[in-house]
Amino acid sequence: MTTLRLPGLVDAHVHLREPGYEHKEDFYTGTVAALAGGVTTVLDMPNTQPPTATPALLREKARLAAAKAVCDVGLFVGATNDRADAYLPAAQHACGLKIYVSDTFGSLRIDSLDLLHRLFRTWAGKADAVGYRMDGREQGLGPIAVHAEELMLPVCLNLSHLYDVPLHVVHVSRRSEIELIRTAKERGYRVTCEVTPHHLFLTTEDAARLGPLGDMRPRLATPDDQAALWENLDVIDLFATDHAPHTLAEKAALETPPPGVPGLETMLPLLITAMVEGRLTEDDIVARCAHNPRRVYGLPAQPDTWVDVVVEDQPVPWSNERMKTRVGWSPFAGMPLHGRVERVTLRGEVVYEDGRVLAAPGSGRVLFGAANPAA
Ligand code: DOR
Ligand code: ZN
Repeated sequence: MTTLRLPGLVDAHVHLREPGYEHKEDFYTGTVAALAGGVTTVLDMPNTQPPTATPALLREKARLAAAKAVCDVGLFVGATNDRADAYLPAAQHACGLKIYVSDTFGSLRIDSLDLLHRLFRTWAGKADAVGYRMDGREQGLGPIAVHAEELMLPVCLNLSHLYDVPLHVVHVSRRSEIELIRTAKERGYRVTCEVTPHHLFLTTEDAARLGPLGDMRPRLATPDDQAALWENLDVIDLFATDHAPHTLAEKAALETPPPGVPGLETMLPLLITAMVEGRLTEDDIVARCAHNPRRVYGLPAQPDTWVDVVVEDQPVPWSNERMKTRVGWSPFAGMPLHGRVERVTLRGEVVYEDGRVLAAPGSGRVLFGAANPAA
């Protein structure tokens, strides 16, 4: 048994569900789950109810996060079909603009080229106005983050290239997609991407066993798609969970269960397991879970912040019992894993130790001045 000390991790893709779906998660339970997973910064998605599509809604969400969070939180803004530009005055207080152009949960899907074109054009204009300053940015915009599967991927790549806007492609899951992103990077496109643990560690072969607990968007892909993600590790900038909790009752009872799985607590144990198996190095993990997300989103540094993780000699089956997420389940239940988060230190304070949260609600920070916007 050894213990590793890693920098506090960033999960750049979570759905903490507040406001509107607090029965699934809220800023307290979600950030507690983050600490339990060694994550000290989360970036929260805008597909809440109501969606984070106006400055007032961003401010309100920031107020909720500031009162409850136990780790640092950045907030995305989103655009809806009928309120396309409403988010704009708050753009620099968000970690980025999230655009959905593929099948998803919630009402944020953009369904016309006219609107999609306008979103890229407008973000580019706003970025020019405030200036890009991505390194620990004080002012400036984050990237456009897109959920763009299959044929929507080249559409978004081209719009980003035409307007010279940095594009971040979330949860890439297919061989065709990762290979296209490789080509775009080789041609100098300003594109980065992330892959989820569930697409790295599960495939269509697990889907039947898991039923609705293995249903998410993008869906689990084929073993060949999964192999392509591992083969193209150098193209993957970030690992991010797409932590998307829904209750077991919702997953079981509805005719069409909502897609999404929790992931904050299992990411590091899974990655450590891949490290023990020789498929990843410690540096691979630290780059993709700490340094790269900070660079891609221009996140401020967290001084004196680290996670102590135990690397078990013998793998231990993952147990839902220990989970902090409000929904209390995982598609990885029973999987033998080697990593266990022992202790998390945030800005010099021990905030999590041996399964107990020591941080007070509201001790986490809301990033980019979203809680107290200057303008
Ligand atoms: O599986 C998913 N769940 N994919 C998404 O794009 C949204 C997410 C959610 O919010 O539940
Ligand atoms: Zn998501």
